[in-house]
Amino acid sequence: MTSDTVAAVPTPPGAGIFSTSETPLGTATVPGDLGAPARSVGAPAAADPRHFLGLEGLSRATLLTLLADAAREREWLKLGEPNRRDLAGLTVVLAFIEDSTRTRTSFEIAAQRLGANTVVFASAASSLNKGETLLDTVRLFEAMGAGLVVVRHPSSGAPAWLARQLGSIGVLNAGDGMHEHPTQGLLDLLTLHDAWQGRFEGRRLAIVGDIAHSRVARSAIAGLTTLGCRVTVCGPGTLIPAEVEELGCDVDTTLEDALAGADGVMALRLQRERMETGLLPTIAEYARLWGLTPERVALLAPDGVVLHPGPVNRGVEMAHEVADGPRSRIFDQVANGVAVRCCVLRRCAQALRRPHGFTVSVAAPR
Ligand code: CP
Repeated sequence: MTSDTVAAVPTPPGAGIFSTSETPLGTATVPGDLGAPARSVGAPAAADPRHFLGLEGLSRATLLTLLADAAREREWLKLGEPNRRDLAGLTVVLAFIEDSTRTRTSFEIAAQRLGANTVVFASAASSLNKGETLLDTVRLFEAMGAGLVVVRHPSSGAPAWLARQLGSIGVLNAGDGMHEHPTQGLLDLLTLHDAWQGRFEGRRLAIVGDIAHSRVARSAIAGLTTLGCRVTVCGPGTLIPAEVEELGCDVDTTLEDALAGADGVMALRLQRERMETGLLPTIAEYARLWGLTPERVALLAPDGVVLHPGPVNRGVEMAHEVADGPRSRIFDQVANGVAVRCCVLRRCAQALRRPHGFTVSVAAPR
């Protein structure tokens, strides 16, 4: 598409818009829709290594390489050495058109540890609110010389759609609507890789909560099933998509059944707005039926672990004793997030193939 096809459409407050007459691909906005539209979200751009858009479709070999690379980044980070210069000269824009604590800060820390310049785009105080489109906004970053843009957006498919429109900038998906959250998925895989001594085959993870609206669940299911792990999902019937088995997982109707003998459980954040839409009765009932308690966690295999992507609603998705208990790997997940983001930033940056490179140490004349 060209810029003269851009339509002047009012911008939803703080969200930005898609600036095309095409329907943005994969806008899976129907509750429970985990099916066809979102599956095609990243198809054409996914093969371009400048972009990191989703875990679905990545091969087992690619996932294992990413995990090995992330583990190497983690070893270096643990040494606490000065920041590297590997990505010096590269500008990374963090465009979060939706709230974030963990993902944004860990991308920023990772980029800075690798020597990149970081720019945090404050969407709430931006010209998106004057009607500027999301595409034009990211084109500005491209024109200013940014190499990578990390995008979180409430619409499924927004990062993949951007990746297809842009010429030279790489796009990293930091969570798009109900579609994917691939760096969260990778950090979950790395955390489980550690907990399970590197073996995914023969393992089983239970995922409890709002499966229907969860990009975290979707990325986890894609990655884990590719690596040979079984996944069982459970939660209120209104939050389990009818076709979820098509993603390669099983469904249990009670939390106890899902937990029995599992090698781990991932509790998802309860999105309180689901109550407003009538999909949930009360928080108290959710906590009673689906909250992780010490008694329920004891149903896991002896070395079973507890994950949560955060932010945790303590006392709802899990009791304090579980969040802070010996099986909890919640802060390992957070720590692994920096290593994973180093890994994907490095990978996308290496694929930019700029004629003179972006690395000062390589490009600078002697
Ligand atoms: N897990 C996760 O995406 O957290 P944030 O929303 O804080 O980034």
